[in-house]
Order: sequence, then structure tokens, then C-alpha cells
Amino acid sequence: MASGVGQAGIFITSSGTGTGKTLIACALCHQLGARGVRVQGLKPVISGFDPTDAGQSDSGLILGSLGREISEDAIARISPFRFSAPLAPNMAAMREGRRIALDEIVDFCRRRATDDFDMTVIEGVGGVMAPLTDEATVIDWMAELKVPALIVLGSYLGAISHGLTALGAMAARAIPIAGIIVNESEESPVEIEETVENFRRFLPGHRIIAVPRIAPGPNSWRRVPDLTGLLPSHSAEPING
Ligand SMILES: Nc1ncnc2c1ncn2[C@@H]1O[C@H](COP(=O)(O)OP(=O)(O)O)[C@@H](O)[C@H]1O
Ligand SMILES: [Mg+2]
Repeated sequence: MASGVGQAGIFITSSGTGTGKTLIACALCHQLGARGVRVQGLKPVISGFDPTDAGQSDSGLILGSLGREISEDAIARISPFRFSAPLAPNMAAMREGRRIALDEIVDFCRRRATDDFDMTVIEGVGGVMAPLTDEATVIDWMAELKVPALIVLGSYLGAISHGLTALGAMAARAIPIAGIIVNESEESPVEIEETVENFRRFLPGHRIIAVPRIAPGPNSWRRVPDLTGLLPSHSAEPING
């Protein structure tokens, strides 16, 4: 994470939507910033975006976790692909008579990885295989970008199957996994420790961190336990290298 070694990046993905990617992205941005790392957060593609409530959008929350101003301009800079329908991006884009291309999304991420930052935290969209364009899913975006992924999984009944399926798909595409976060779901059939223990059993060799339920409220990302141990070291491949 030291400067002068190229811009490192981390891609936050998950087994599905609503699993906690934004909370984890915000916590990481805040924790890295507090350690003096020059960090930026990107949410390149966002659907369900309502400009009248931009502060509560993923993009607004990410800017807030970095102590940045939440303006229309600032949001456009970190989230160039914004759509209003709360649907997979390709379907949301179609409703506005628009199309997005994987190249444009990947180029945006690379262009934004300037020497002004040591670390770029990128929040994906939906789960690992959410349709992004008419031809590509999020996994194609990760495969092109070639930055390590942090995957956020849940602890609801069925989360282990969803998590292992997502990780299997990523392994098939050789996407490097920096770590796994088991984020406690609103309703869990067992204590989080038991879910984590079972994930560990089926995922030997992976770094796994549990995040418990966090009290709701403004800046709830401040209450997330330290995640920086999951980040790749500064030897990680630069995004724009
Ligand atoms: N560990 C947690 N404790 C309490 N609430 C959580 C936790 N993780 C996520 N949430 C809440 O669940 C909702 C969905 O999380 P979010 O981070 O937006 O998911 P995603 O970005 O994957 O769609 C948000 O309201 C978020 O604050
Ligand atoms: Mg999100």
C-alpha cells in the first residue's frame, strides 16, 4: 500500500445483492484513510440511483465514508454509469434507451487509478454473475480488471451454497481472492461463528473475516471491525499497470 509501487486496487463483490458490499466498501475506505493511505472509492455502475436522494446512494455513502463532499459532480466522477431503475444494469440501461459496454467500464476504472492514490476500492454491482451489459456479467469485469477481489457473503440459511457457488465461478475464471467476509445477515439460523467454521471447512487456504450485525444509523461503517488485514500488500498488481 506504500506509494510509488503502482496503484493497487480491490474489487468488492458478493454472492448477491443486499449482502453488504457498500457497508464493507465504506468501512475499508474509512479504515484505510485513517491509516494515512491515499484511498479512493469507486462505484462505477449504479442502478436504482435517485439523484434527489444521492446522499443515501452507494456512491454518496462511499464519498461520505472518505469525508468527501457529496455533490452531483463528485458522484458523476466516481459513478459515471448511473441508472434509475433498480434492476440489473443492462436492464436498467435498456429502460433509458442506453447501453453500456464492458470496455468503457474497465477503461474508467483504469483511468481513475492515478498516482494520486495508493489504493482504489471498487464496489461492483449485484452478485458475481449479475448481468452488466447484454454480453457480460460482473465476473467478466473482474476478469478484465485483474485486481484481487474481496467477496462479501451472508449467514442466512442458504448462504453457504450461494457463497461456494460464487467462489467456484470465480476460481474457474482465475480471479484472485484477497479475502472473504462473512457479513451477518438479518436472520441467521445459527451463530455467525458456526457459519464461518463451515465456510472455512470448504474453503481451506482463504482468509475469512466475520462481520457481526452493526447498529444502524449514520456512518454505521465506523463500527465495522478492522478489515485491512485482508488487503493485498503493495506488491499487488497495479490496476493501470
Ligand atoms: N453487518 C450488518 N449489520 C447491519 N446492517 C447491515 C450489515 N450489513 C449490511 N447491512 C445493511 O443491509 C443493507 C444492504 O447492505 P449494502 O451494503 O447496501 O449491500 P450491497 O451493497 O451488497 O447491496 C444496508 O441497509 C446495510 O446498511
Ligand atoms: Mg451496494
